[in-house]
Amino acid sequence: MNTLFPLGLPAATAFYLCLYLATLVVHLIFMHYVLAGSIYLAFGRLMGRARCQACSWQAILVDWLPFATGLAITAGVGPLLFVQILYGREFATANLLLSHRWMAILPVLIVCFYLLYLQKSAWIARRAWAWRSVVAAIACAGFLFIAWSWTENHLLMLDQAAWPGIYAAGSLRYESAAVLPRLAAWCFLAFPSLAIELAWQGRLLDRLDEPAAAGMQVLGLSPVRRLAVTALCGWAGTLLASWAYWPSIPDAARAAITGPLGGPWLAVVAVGLVIQIASWGGAFFSDRLARGQLIVMTAAWVATLLGVAVVRETIRLAAVDLAIGGQLHQQALGIGGLPVFLVFAVLNAVAIGWCIRTVRGQVTTGSEG
Ligand code: HEM
Repeated sequence: MNTLFPLGLPAATAFYLCLYLATLVVHLIFMHYVLAGSIYLAFGRLMGRARCQACSWQAILVDWLPFATGLAITAGVGPLLFVQILYGREFATANLLLSHRWMAILPVLIVCFYLLYLQKSAWIARRAWAWRSVVAAIACAGFLFIAWSWTENHLLMLDQAAWPGIYAAGSLRYESAAVLPRLAAWCFLAFPSLAIELAWQGRLLDRLDEPAAAGMQVLGLSPVRRLAVTALCGWAGTLLASWAYWPSIPDAARAAITGPLGGPWLAVVAVGLVIQIASWGGAFFSDRLARGQLIVMTAAWVATLLGVAVVRETIRLAAVDLAIGGQLHQQALGIGGLPVFLVFAVLNAVAIGWCIRTVRGQVTTGSEG
C-alpha cells in the first residue's frame, strides 16, 4: 500500500471503495447538518425566547431538521451496503459484540425523529418556552448517542485483539482512549458543514451580501458573523480533537496517513481547510458573504470532506487486510440487476416528483412564534 489511494488496489476492491467513499460523503453532508444542527439548537434554546426569535438560523433548523434527518438516514444506506461488501467480517463482528447496545440506535433514532417534529408543532408553540429547551436537549442527546455508537462500532471493527475479551466478558461496551477524541472530531467537524449549508439556505430568505438589519443581531453578532463563528470554532475544535486522537492511532496507520497512500489526500484536507478558514475570516470582518465566496467555500468544503473520508479509510486499510475479501469483491462485481434498479429508480423519481408538486406552494418558512 505504497501508492496513492485508490491506485494499487485490485480493480474490484478499488471500485467498491470508491463507491463506498462517494456515498459516505453524501451521508456526511446530511449527517453533519443533523448532528451540528441539533447541538446548535439545544444550546441556542438556552438563550431564551427573545434571542431565539431573532435568530433566523434557529428558525431554519427547526423547520428543516426533520427532513435533513430523513436525508441523513437514507444517505446512510449506500455506505452501509458497501461497508458490508468490503469489511463484512469486521463490521458484523463489531455489530454482534455490541449487540443490544448497537441496536439501540434504531429506537433512539425513531424517538429523535419524532422529537424534531414535536419541536415544530403547534402543540409545543402553546407551551412554556422551557419545553422547547427540553425537547431540543433530548433530541441532541439522542443524536450524540447515535454518533458515539457509530464511532465505537467503527473502532471496535479495527481492534481485533479486543474481540475475544469483549465476547468472554459479555460486555456491551468497547472502551478505548480513541473513542472520545474521535467522536469529538466528528462533532466539531459537523459545524463548518452546518455553517455552509445554513448559508445556502439563508441566501434563499435574506441577502447575505449586505449588512443585516439590527433586529437580526444575536449577542451582538449578525447572521453572517454567527455562521463565521460557528465554522471557525468548529475547525478549531476539529483540529484540537484530531490532535488528541492522533496518539491513539497505531503506528502503521499513521504511516499510511502521512505516506504515499493517504498523504496527498491529507494535503487536500489541509488546502480545503485553509480556504474555508480564510473565507470565513473574510466574511466575519467584512460582515457579508457574497455568492462567489460561498461557491469557492463550498467547493473547498466538499473536497475537504472527500479528503477526510479517504484519510479515515487509510486508517482502516492499515488495520484490515482487504486482500482476503478480494475474491468476494470480484464476485460481487459480476452480479447484475441493472434493469430492476432502473425500474425502481424511475418509480421513485416519479413518486418524489409527485410529492414535491403536491407540497409546493404550501411551504412556509419564517420566524418562530
Ligand atoms: C442521523 C443520525 C446519525 C448520526 C448522528 C450518524 C453519525 C455517524 C458518524 C459520526 C459516523 C462516523 C463514525 C466514525 O468514523 O467514527 C458515521 C458513519 C456511518 N454511518 Fe452514520 N449516523 C447517523 C445515521 C446513520 C444511519 C441511519 C445509517 C444507515 C442507514 C448510517 C450509516 C453510516 C455508515 C455506513 C457509516 C460508515 C461506517 C463505517 O465505515 O464503519 N448512519 N455515522
